[in-house]
Amino acid sequence: MAPRGKSSFACRECGYVSPGWLGRCPGCQEWNTIEEVAPARTIPRGAGGRGAGAAVAATTHAASAPLRLSDVDPASQARLSTGLTEFDRVLGGGLVAGSVVLVGGEPGVGKSTLLLQTLLDMEARGVATLLVSGEESPAQVKLRSVRLGGEGSKLRLLAETQTESVIMALEQLKPALCVVDSVQTLWSAEVGSAPGSVAQIRDATAQLLRVAKDNGIALVLVGHVTKEGELAGPRVLEHMVDAVLSFEGERAQPFRILRAVKNRFGSTNEVGVFQMAEKGLEEVPDPASVFLEEGDLRSGSVVVPVLEGTRCLLAEVQALVAQSNLAMPQRVARGVDRNRLAMIVAVLTRRARLPLYKFDIFVNVAGGLALEDPAADLAVALAIASAWRDGSDGHGIAAFGEVSLTGKVRYVLQGEKRIQELARRGFPQILVPGNATWKTCWRSKCSPASSRGAAR
Ligand code: TYD
Ligand code: MG
Repeated sequence: MAPRGKSSFACRECGYVSPGWLGRCPGCQEWNTIEEVAPARTIPRGAGGRGAGAAVAATTHAASAPLRLSDVDPASQARLSTGLTEFDRVLGGGLVAGSVVLVGGEPGVGKSTLLLQTLLDMEARGVATLLVSGEESPAQVKLRSVRLGGEGSKLRLLAETQTESVIMALEQLKPALCVVDSVQTLWSAEVGSAPGSVAQIRDATAQLLRVAKDNGIALVLVGHVTKEGELAGPRVLEHMVDAVLSFEGERAQPFRILRAVKNRFGSTNEVGVFQMAEKGLEEVPDPASVFLEEGDLRSGSVVVPVLEGTRCLLAEVQALVAQSNLAMPQRVARGVDRNRLAMIVAVLTRRARLPLYKFDIFVNVAGGLALEDPAADLAVALAIASAWRDGSDGHGIAAFGEVSLTGKVRYVLQGEKRIQELARRGFPQILVPGNATWKTCWRSKCSPASSRGAAR
């Protein structure tokens, strides 16, 4: 344990730092998540280092004399292609030497598969790589690599969980790319807390970061997410690493989205779309309509073009409205925020006078997409209204727009782009907010929607 008075306390879930122990975290309101964190260790640098005493947190190997910006060589940030165009796209053109990327996602989403594919591809192209596997045994990694078509690969593998041993291997081998799967398994006896704790994760990351920067190693750390969808202990890591990517998707569905949450070397406006297949992840270069269900649209289902970074994806919102016998009718949402659904139902009830308080409402987004774009509001409202009527007016409808509490449908960003994507897929009818410029551009194809439009 660290000497008293010198250590601080941090929340395991959200990274909230407090000077003393608390039963409940003021940051995320979770109970029993605050734990003691030892002060940052001071460690001597390896061969060629600038002497002992550099704090772990001081990770950049900045020269002591200031540089002129004009003298900085941008070519020193050459990119390493991962072999997967979609992955490169999210990174902003590939991995940067000396950078640290954190890849988060729920168990089973395919993080290990994605990174093993990258390692195998790079190794086959003659790039020196290293996989540090703290979760899977070498035999398990081998089995997976056979499945991915890399049985003969010379990829170097280190089944190790001790931070110091990993650092030593990195300093000796100096690979161009190192993947650590996962950062939560790393631990050091010098940090006085249990493996997986904030203190251990933070210490391991700080040390790895220093070695990566000093040796120009592109380092990828795999991190687990908690049930709330947050990377465990990651608020503490987010500011340390150069990029944070999140790998999302439903396990039962084949499609996966890779998203940049933070990126010091590129835009956070890019997503990569993959499909989990028999032999690993396949890229989906034109993902616009892969999330649509096959066959004709039925009543209660409306297509909405949502923006994912610079891409426009078509999502299908399905609703079912059934007579309820409950005092509190059910509102069940998958792929749509529950509070957002409650608001839309309230707007439909009050502004469009649909007697929805007598009905159970189920809303689902096909293909396992989770919609965050407010443009989906109108599609959700129309899907519910059309399911309630159960008539034929919902057939083949595409719509987008943000629904306000007053019942108005508001303008959303990049309307033209969304309409073009729908037009490309041949949607006969598109409902959009009545914005003047679009009406002139698309008068022949679109009918402006209003709160009344949403109700009928
Ligand atoms: P994995 O990559 O281990 O996920 P994570 O590291 O994020 O926990 O596994 C993902 C799932 O994908 C696993 O349940 C099996 C499946 N899978 C395939 O469908 N095809 C494949 O080629 C591979 C390797 C895995
Ligand atoms: Mg894994």
